[in-house]
Amino acid sequence: MSTKNIAVIVGSLRRESFSRKVAHNLIALAPDSLRFSIIEIGDLPLYNQDIETDTPPAAWQRFRDEVRPAHGLLFVTPEYNRSVPGALKNAIDVGSRPYGKSVWNGKPGAIVSCSPGAIGGFGANHHLRQPMVFLNVPMLPREAYLGGIDKLLGTDDKFVPETAEFMSKYMHTFAAWVDKIAGS
Ligand code: FNR
Repeated sequence: MSTKNIAVIVGSLRRESFSRKVAHNLIALAPDSLRFSIIEIGDLPLYNQDIETDTPPAAWQRFRDEVRPAHGLLFVTPEYNRSVPGALKNAIDVGSRPYGKSVWNGKPGAIVSCSPGAIGGFGANHHLRQPMVFLNVPMLPREAYLGGIDKLLGTDDKFVPETAEFMSKYMHTFAAWVDKIAGS
């Protein structure tokens, strides 16, 4: 297995975000064949076709340039009002344009959603699948919803053992998926 670069997109902007803590745990549990970069989305201006010129906003360009070289995509997101947080949807739109130059195209992807609530961001997780499938992102045929996330992280912000074991398996399955789609 050759090393694969994975762009990690976190759907929450807040400093103490559970989703960001989950992302760090997932990175730590993944096999060595994956190398991760968290790509920030908080500074992206709202997508507007009027400013999609030869000189688009610098933050759009920076985001596209950071995602483009990745072999695979890992989304870690909370749920806002039973759907995807607006900042994350905006990042997906920014990455999808200009038409024909989407940075998402063909990259294997996976989604982990989390919430202090019981259903673990199920709505966001499934709503996010829809644009990603549209954008030709082969999605891992496994699901991960982390409900009660406030109780699945210890005081050190590490997963409790049962969650670490479950998510370690998930990350190994994701690594195999990346190899299958992006070449081993
Ligand atoms: C929420 N939250 C929430 N939780 C949930 O399980 N389903 C939902 O639909 C929503 N909706 C929602 C909307 C908005 C605008 C906010 C701010 C929050 C609660 C949410 O899960 C909680 O705040 C998480 O802690 C957010 O994730 P991060 O920031 O910790 O990663």
